[in-house]
Amino acid sequence: MLDASPTKDTLLEVNNIEVIYNHVILVLKGVSLTVKEGGITALLGGNGAGKTTTLKAISNLLHSERGEVTKGSILYRGEKVQELDPAALVKKGVIQVMEGRHCFEHLTVEENLLTGAYTRRDGKGAIDADLEMVYNYFPRLKERRKSQAGYTSGGEQQMCAIGRALMSRPETILLDEPSMGLAPQLVEQIFEIVKAVNEGEGVSFLLAEQNTNVALRYAHTGYILESGRVVMEGTAEALRENPDVKEFYLGMSEEGRKSFRDVRSYRRRKRWLS
Ligand SMILES: Nc1ncnc2c1ncn2[C@@H]1O[C@H](COP(=O)(O)OP(=O)(O)O)[C@@H](O)[C@H]1O
Ligand SMILES: [Mg+2]
Repeated sequence: MLDASPTKDTLLEVNNIEVIYNHVILVLKGVSLTVKEGGITALLGGNGAGKTTTLKAISNLLHSERGEVTKGSILYRGEKVQELDPAALVKKGVIQVMEGRHCFEHLTVEENLLTGAYTRRDGKGAIDADLEMVYNYFPRLKERRKSQAGYTSGGEQQMCAIGRALMSRPETILLDEPSMGLAPQLVEQIFEIVKAVNEGEGVSFLLAEQNTNVALRYAHTGYILESGRVVMEGTAEALRENPDVKEFYLGMSEEGRKSFRDVRSYRRRKRWLS
């Protein structure tokens, strides 16, 4: 019998990594996660949980921060990628969109998008076609294409940063905190586009987010990080329905809204969970 539901390929495998900053500050204490082909995987957790550190460990961006992966392994399509510099990783199809939407402020939106194609060798025709593809997902960027990026809004800069990543024709985008500093309506718009790109182009996402609510509505699977450890993982649906996630991350429970301030009962509960 053939398996009726073949499992999707694993793209990214993070195995039990430890990250230390400045030789002494242990920030990730054994983080493991997998990103499957064609999915949106959410990496959730509060401020300081270790989300950005995890993404930077994957794309080898820790050196400039005096950070180091001291244990564990990171594989992309089964191949060790820890030693690859970010440009080599882009060639393998993995690109990171950093927290805080890094656009080149003095370049126009379109020039920013074109910088995303710098590693490509497939010619102007293909690059122009992809520019159109990006403008299809982000009509707003087309309207603003001649504007200097530094003068566009926060939402437009986030779009520009994602669009720029798309111009490298990635297989996987590591997207750090796309909702940061944006109004709820814009956050929703950005996530709608992420979903459309995932479905339309088959791009896989590993998405770091503090905004658990919106991330779990768009992701397929998720991991919750706390103090550098994965404390929970599962399908987005299972996480949305989990009483502890509801209580501590979605701000709702049977008894009504709860806040993180109830730290003591939270600790007790966490111990019980693990
Ligand atoms: N360059 C650094 N040097 C020392 N500590 C850092 C550095 N960057 C981050 N940290 C610490 O690592 C922890 C995790 O940070 P981060 O990965 O940015 O979390 P998140 O993205 O989930 O908010 C925090 O306690 C933060 O203070
Ligand atoms: Mg972060």
